Amino acid sequence: MLIARRRGWELPESVVTQEALAIGRRAVLAGSAALALGGPALAAEPGGAAPRNPKYDGGRPLTAEKDATTYNNYYEFSEEKDLWEAAQALPQRPWTIKLDGMIKQPRTIGIDDLLKQVTLEERVYRHRCVEAWAMTVPWTGFPLAKLVALAEPLGSAKFVVFQTDADKKVMPGLRRSFYPFPYTEAVTIEEAGNELAFISTGLYGKPLPPQNGGPIRLTIPWKYGFKSAKSVVKISFTDKRPTTFWEALGPSEYGFWANVNPAVPHPRWSQASERLLTSGDRVPTQIYNGYGPYVAALYADKKSEKLFM
Ligand code: MTE
Repeated sequence: MLIARRRGWELPESVVTQEALAIGRRAVLAGSAALALGGPALAAEPGGAAPRNPKYDGGRPLTAEKDATTYNNYYEFSEEKDLWEAAQALPQRPWTIKLDGMIKQPRTIGIDDLLKQVTLEERVYRHRCVEAWAMTVPWTGFPLAKLVALAEPLGSAKFVVFQTDADKKVMPGLRRSFYPFPYTEAVTIEEAGNELAFISTGLYGKPLPPQNGGPIRLTIPWKYGFKSAKSVVKISFTDKRPTTFWEALGPSEYGFWANVNPAVPHPRWSQASERLLTSGDRVPTQIYNGYGPYVAALYADKKSEKLFM
C-alpha cells in the first residue's frame, strides 16, 4: 500500500465549513422542498439521509466532506488517491447483492429492496487507514448484524465474506493482473454481530459516493480501513477463514485481523500516530482505534492470533 502524501487541498480546519451544521441545513432544505412539492421528505436520496444516532459521535471534529470524498483508496480504479472522478463511471443502479454459502436460502437482493427492510441511521465514526491517515465522517447505514439476520446463516457459519465489484469496463485498475481482484474481505460472525459493525449506504447525509464505495460498503471502525470493503456485490457465509485481498498480496504486512494498535508497527512504518485529513494534525493512535470498550472482548480467547496486523 502506498504511503499517503499531503495534498494541496487539505485545508486548515479554520477555513472548512462545519459539516454538522451544513448537514442539518441541507436536511431542513431538502425536507421543506419535498413538502412544498407534496412528496415525502428526502425521498430522492435512498440510503443517504437518516437521523443521527448520538451514541456514536466520533469524538473529533468532522473531516471536511471535500477531503473525505477526494482522497480515497480504491485500487480497482487507481493506486493514487485522486481517483474520485474516474469512480463516477461506476453505475450505482441497478445494484444487486448475492447472499450465498451457509445460509437458509441463497438469493440475490436488489439494493432498494434491501433498503426497505432496514432502518437507516447516521453514525459518526473514526476511520484509520493502515497508511496512518485518518478521518472522522458521518456514515448513513444500518448494523451489519441486521443484514446477517436477514441472510439467516446456518449455525455452522463462522465467517462473513464480502466480495466487491470487479467491472473491467469502468475499473482501469483491474488490468493490473498481479492484484488478486475481486477485492475480498471478511470478518468472523461474532465481529459481524458487534454493534459497531456497519453497512454504509450514505456519507454526509447523501447517497454514498462511488469513490467511497457506493452504493454499499462495509464500515468496521476498530480495524484498519482496508477491512472496510467498498462496492459490495456478494456476501458469503462459510466455516473456513478466507484469504483476503491484502493478505494474499502481502501476508507479511497485512493480516486477517487487522485491528488498530499503535504499539504494533507496520513492517515499513510506525503506527504510533496518525495524520488527520483536513487539519493535517498528527495525533496519537489508539488501540482498536479507540473502540476497545466495544470490541476488546471479541478477542479475549484469541491471544495466540496475530490480532494487530
Ligand atoms: N475496497 C475496495 N473494493 N478497494 C480498495 O482498494 N481500499 C480500502 C478500503 N476499501 C479499498 C476498499 C482502504 S486501504 C481504505 S483505507 C478504505 O477503503 C478507504 O476508504 P475511503 O476511500 O472511503 O476513505
